[in-house]
Parts: sequence; structure tokens; C-alpha cells
Amino acid sequence: MRSETAPAIRLEDYRPPAYRIDKVHLNVLLDPAATEITATLSLSRAEGTREGTPLVLDGDELSLTGLKLNGQDLPETAYAAAADRLEILTPPAAPFELTIVTQVNPDSNTKLMGLFRSSGTYCTQCEAEGFRRITYFLDRPDVLAVYTTRLEAPKAECPVLLANGNLVEEGPVEGSGRHYAVWHDPHPKPAYLFALVAGDLARVPDSFTTASGKEVALNIYVEHGKETRCGWAMDSLKRSMRWDEETFGREYDLDVFNIVAVSDFNMGAMENKGLNVFNDKYVLADPETATDQDYANIEAVIAHEYFHNWTGNRITCRDWFQLCLKEGLTVFRDQEFSADMRSRPVKRIADVSLLKSHQFPEDAGPLAHPVRPRLYHEINNFYTATVYEKGAEVVRMLKTLLGAETFRAGLDLYFQRHDGEATTIEAFLACFEDAAGIDLGQFALWYDQAGTPVVTVSTRYDPERQTFSVSLSQEIPPVPGQAPTKPAVIPLRFGLIGPNGEDMDIEAAPEGARISGDVIVLEKTHQDVTFRNIASAPVLSLLRGFSAPVRLDHKPRPEELQFQAAQDSDPFNRWQAVQTLAMQDLVRLAGEFRKGADATPSEDVIRVFGSVLTDTSLDPALKAQALTLPSEADIAQEIGKNVDPDAVHAARQRLRQAVSSQHGDAFLALLATASREDGYSPDAASAGKRALSNRALYYYAAEGSADAAALVWDRYASADNMTDRLAALTLLVHDHMPRETEALDLYKARHESNSLAMDKWFMTQATAPGDETLAKVRALMTHPLYDAGNPNKVRALLQSFATGNPTQFARKDGAGFALIAESVLEIDKRNPQVASRLLTSFRSWRALDPQRSALAESALLRVSSCEDLSRDSRDIVDRTLQ
Ligand code: TRP
Ligand code: ZN
Repeated sequence: MRSETAPAIRLEDYRPPAYRIDKVHLNVLLDPAATEITATLSLSRAEGTREGTPLVLDGDELSLTGLKLNGQDLPETAYAAAADRLEILTPPAAPFELTIVTQVNPDSNTKLMGLFRSSGTYCTQCEAEGFRRITYFLDRPDVLAVYTTRLEAPKAECPVLLANGNLVEEGPVEGSGRHYAVWHDPHPKPAYLFALVAGDLARVPDSFTTASGKEVALNIYVEHGKETRCGWAMDSLKRSMRWDEETFGREYDLDVFNIVAVSDFNMGAMENKGLNVFNDKYVLADPETATDQDYANIEAVIAHEYFHNWTGNRITCRDWFQLCLKEGLTVFRDQEFSADMRSRPVKRIADVSLLKSHQFPEDAGPLAHPVRPRLYHEINNFYTATVYEKGAEVVRMLKTLLGAETFRAGLDLYFQRHDGEATTIEAFLACFEDAAGIDLGQFALWYDQAGTPVVTVSTRYDPERQTFSVSLSQEIPPVPGQAPTKPAVIPLRFGLIGPNGEDMDIEAAPEGARISGDVIVLEKTHQDVTFRNIASAPVLSLLRGFSAPVRLDHKPRPEELQFQAAQDSDPFNRWQAVQTLAMQDLVRLAGEFRKGADATPSEDVIRVFGSVLTDTSLDPALKAQALTLPSEADIAQEIGKNVDPDAVHAARQRLRQAVSSQHGDAFLALLATASREDGYSPDAASAGKRALSNRALYYYAAEGSADAAALVWDRYASADNMTDRLAALTLLVHDHMPRETEALDLYKARHESNSLAMDKWFMTQATAPGDETLAKVRALMTHPLYDAGNPNKVRALLQSFATGNPTQFARKDGAGFALIAESVLEIDKRNPQVASRLLTSFRSWRALDPQRSALAESALLRVSSCEDLSRDSRDIVDRTLQ
């Protein structure tokens, strides 16, 4: 027996809502086990709706305790109520008011959707379909209403009462020990942007003056005692607000902007209008407990949620198929913000690495879907790397193709034309078509076709005719269930590097392709591009800045790659050349090891690492990135089939050791000069220096000598910030150095009372290679500081094991897969979103060798055979096995 697959929702079936809801008044009487919500909805028939058409409201696990229409009780024959819907059989022809009373239990809400409690604080999460767990509603993004929310709770337990918009009234409820607050949000919004928070929280206040001189009160609410860790988040918020004004002309539009940090949260953060709710890991930071990466993430997520105020809230999605309309665009905006705050090339490399390690495998496996899907069973499963990250790449390509100015004009038009609306990708693209006077019909295919295009490249130089020809072709690998694909519009930023290392001037326009500036536009299946008057053979640097989310099948000669690694004026392609050289060698080594043969790393590759290391022109952060080996998962993905994770692990370790033994002295010298500066500062330049010295430590430690072990220990024990401490701890644990256990104990003693810092402790152990890790993870699941109900803990221990420990997850005895399958079933009962996310770690199972893929399949079948799987997990397991 297995649970039923939920019915498919299809884009083509979209119909506008039959009724409008213009106003919502909520009265919420907060209680841990029995919160009562009275919702008063101002309803009217939508244009084109026939009189008497039933009104069908969504619900989810609701119980109805009262119902009135225009103030009158309704006879039981006039409606039908169930936990998941409320139907008013024959609503009046004229506008009417519906009053609905529901009761919910926040304490027993383990799904963390709707109204729940996190460490005693009441909070809500309504995207995508959580509002229907609070009251019956037309819970779809194209129903926009003005909300007024009255909250009431005991003042002693809940001194803080927050909802969307501006505070309009507050006071005591006489003689009851209770108090109330009324919030009004003048901006019409869909239900998924509703939020309330109530509890005993500390407030960190600040303010911001907008470009037009309006004063906005800013507040970050956190648990008492955590106030001192909000400074970076607040600073990031103010910089985001300024940047959006300066870069896109977007100002904030309410009197107050509130952020609340909670410790139990399904995702990163949520852009509720005027009341963002955050996973506390994206708010809280101090040098003692947060790494440089944490600081960068906080800056990016704060910006992301803030930017949603225009791209998502003022202009929202017509339906959930359009999710990338807000997410892809907002990710693009937060990426640009971070690039402006930090180093643009370093940020670009980080974003592309993420895209390649998360989105590419998704697009190549059973969970592949277009940036705008056409069908879903459970929308929660579409908050994916494809919608977010590839969605951002599509916006970036638009900018590349149109140029910065026209792109900005198109976006201005979008804000002007669609403000206050719920709209679509077509409407978005139309703004750019109108601004640029071009047709984006073919470009729009990026939203509809799944799969990563492969661009095949070959070049030929003719010294006699002084021509350089580039032959380009594109192919999108077939995706099951998808119609044959059409050629995409692929902007290829490029340069021709001359023998002196400088980019050649390209005098005459080349033949065979539309070209604008330094961008070749590939728009057919095959194109030959010829450059004339090229005096000597150039090296082609293609896809500079990763100008399109494609795979390049380009086989430059090793000398050419080495030349690029040393000379390319485009920092991204310099980095890429080093990575490609390393990757080629790692794939070769893994192939040999898989056969049981021995092999040694290429001298050339080791030399390239050496020249990167000693290049004084490279900034430290870039250097650290260039010295980072492709991850085991990245190597596995490159191999593509019949993957043996043990061989991959061995190959990567071998290259690391070879680089270490060749350049050990240089790494040691670097460590000696990388003096600890006085005081920690999270800025990008300081972070870059720390990244580089920790990279040096990683290589130096590979020597395995007593000296190396002593140095790592010393760095660990003397670290004055989390970045350095965690880097050293990771080496001690992952390289199984002599004082591994001592280090873990010391860490625990130091950070026991800090849940976020302990997440790193769990993660470090879960990602350690070696057979004993599995038993460790099982033991940690019963550790007093582990909590299976806290999503951050599940991610730290189990998700990081499944995605960050390829040899142990894919153990040959099947125990790694079994652990995750078992955990999915356990977690699914309480939190389907967290369970289904964990289940996606199986997505590349078919690429494993036959023995391992058979084990993965049986683990998946075990999950699939569960009778009462959630809709979320059912959807993922069905598609993964398909
Ligand atoms: N819209 C949110 C963002 O992009 C993410 C989000 C979607 C979310 N669904 C959620 C967050 C559920 C928490 C829980 O930032
Ligand atoms: Zn978002």
C-alpha cells in the first residue's frame, strides 16, 4: 500500500478567482493550544462570475467554530465545512461580509507552516499555502486584500505584538491582564505575505531616512540576551535600503520595517510585508560564533528579503508557476548588491560555484524542471535551485543582452506598469521588449525548457588568410517528459587573447553571429563565427563571467588552459581555467583508482597551483577560490555515470597531497606572514585574507606530519574568531588528527549554550570521511543538544551527511542510504517540508555505480512503500524513482 499521489496542478488550467476579497479584518486571541481567529472578509463577485456561483475557500487542518454572512448565522444547509475547505453554496449577488471563526493549536503545529510557536514565541509562515492553516481563505497569490490585524494576548507572556504594516492602536484589555495591538497594512497583498509575531522578545531599534526624506523605524526582534548579535544584520539592512534607492530607484513604503529572528524555521527567511521573519542563523552574528561565510550570508539574505518589498510584494505572482518572477529577480538583485558591497569577481565565482554544484545536478537528474514549471503536485517542492539560481541567471542574461541602461529602463517600466498587481513572466518580459524594441520570444524559452544546454566549441586559425573561426553548436539534453527542445538564446561573453596576454582589438565585426560589444549571441543550433585580420593565433576565452548557465564542451589544449590560468583578463575565466585543469586531472585519477590502478597527479596542474599561489597580483580572496579544489560532488557530477565516490575521494586527496608536498614551504610561508590582525572585522578584504590563510592551512596539513598537526592544533586553540576556529577544527576532524576528540570536546565546552555554534559542531562531525562517521551520526541523533524538531539541527546533522559526505552516504553496505531513508520517514510525520528536502539528497542516485545505485533504489522504495507519506515526500520520491 502507498499513499495517493496528489492531483497535478497545471499552468494551463489557471483561471482567475471567482470572488474578490478586498478587505480582511483578523482578530486573533492568542493561546498556546487554542488560538481563536475571527476573520471578517469583504467579498464580492469577480467580473464575469455568474450570480450564485459557490464560494470555495481553502483550509488545511482547520476547525470551524463560527460562521456568519452579513452578520447573520448561516443555516447548515447553506454551507459545507471540512478541515480543508469551506464552501458557501449560494453567496449573495451583492458584495457581502463573511465572518469566520476558527481555532488552531500553535503548540502542536510541528510543520512550522501557519501559526506555530518557536521557543515560546508565536509566529507564522504563510508562503506558499500556510494562511489556510489559520483561516479559510482564497489562498492564492492573485487575491490581493488590505489587512487589519488585531492581536490579543496576556501582557506578561507576550509583551510584543506584531503584524504587517503600521501600528494603529494598542492598549490593555481592562481587568484581564491581557493587552492588544492593531496593525494596518495599506498595501493590498496576497495571503502568503501575511504575518504575525507575539512573544517576549528583545528589540534592537534603529532608523533610516529614505531618499525622499521619510523616516522609517527599523527594529530587529530577538530572544533576550541575543541583542548584541544583531549589529551586522541591522547594518546590512540599512545598506540594502540605500542600495535599492540608488541602484533601482526603489524606496521603502511603510513607517516601520520589522525583522524577527526565530530558531525554528523551515527555510532561510520570509519577506512578509513590513514584518520579515528570519531563521536566526541569518540574523545573529558575532566574531566568536559566526564565520565570514555567515556574515556574507546574513548580508545577502537580509538584502534578499528587503528587496522582495518591490519584487514580490508590491508586484507579486499571479500563480505559483510564476514563482521565479519574484525569486529569480530578487536573487539577481541580492547578488548584485553583494557584488557592490564586496568584490564583484569573487562574488560571481561564488554564485557560479553554487549554481554548478546545486542547480546543474538538479537539472541533470530526475527532479529537473523548467525555471517556470508547468505542473506541480506540491508547490513547496519548487523552491529550488532552478527557480532561484537559474532564475537569477536568466535575468542576468537579459541584462547582458540588452545592456545595463536598457535593462534598467525595462525594469523601471515593470515597476511602473505592474505596481499593485499579481502578474506573470510574460508581462515581465513584455516590459523589456517595449523598452528595447525587440522580440524576446525565443529568449522566453529559458523559462520553459529544463536541462542545461551544452555548447560545443571548436576553433581554427588560418595564418594565411589571418582568420580565426569559432564553430559553435548547442544542444539541450533530453529531459524525460519534456518535448524536444528548441535552440536557446545564449549570450557568450568572450575575448581573443593575444600572445602577449592582452585581449586583441576586434576591428571588423565578425561574420556568422549577432555580436554586441564583447558578446556573441548564439541563437541557432549551429553557428560559425569568423574573425578577420587576426595577425596571430589567439586563445579564445569564452563564457567570460559565466555569461550563460550552460556547459561548455570546449577542449582547449592544456597549454591554452595554463595560459588562461595565468593571463586571462577576465578573473572568472582565470579561475575557471584553474578549475578545469584540476577537474580534468581529478577525473583521470578517479578513473584510474576505480580500476584499482595507481596514478599520480599531473605535474602541470601542480605547477599551475604553484603559480597561483605565488602570484602577487591576485587578491587574497580570489587566490583562495582558485586554490580550492572542485568538491567531491562536483567531480562526481563531471564523471556523470558509474560513479565510485571512494575513488573520487581518493583522487581529490591525492591531488591535495601532491600540491602540498610540492608547495609546502610556500604554504608555510604564507601562514607565517598571514599575521592575525588585531581585532576581527567582517569586511570582505579581511575575510579574504582569512580565507587564504585557511586554504594554506588545508594544504599544509595534508603533509600529515607532526609539525603540521601541531600547527593546526595551535591555530585551533589560539583562534580569536569562529572562521579560523572552525577551519582548524574541520581539519582536525576530517583529517582525523591526533587531537580530534579533544578539539571537539573543547569546542563543545565553549559553545554549548549557543545553538547556532553547535550546528557547526554537528555538521563538522557529519561530514567527516571515514567508516566510523555513520555510527557517530547515529549516536549524535540522541545527543542532548540534538533536536529532531529543529530544522537547523536536521540540516546540520542529517542533510550535511547526505549531501556533504559522499563516501559515507553512498557506503557500499547501504547503511548511509538506510539512515537517511529512515530519518526521512521519521521526520515526515512531523515536518514534511524538512523531510522532502532531505529526500532530495538522493537525486543523483542513478549516476552511481550499479551496486550503489541498487542500494539507493531500495532505500527509495522503502520510503515509497510507506502508507501515509506526506504529499511533499510522496512527490519527491515518485519523481526520484521515475
Ligand atoms: N519566499 C522566501 C524567500 O525567498 C522563501 C520561502 C518560501 C519560505 N517558502 C517558505 C521561507 C517557507 C520559510 C518557509 O526568501
Ligand atoms: Zn525570495
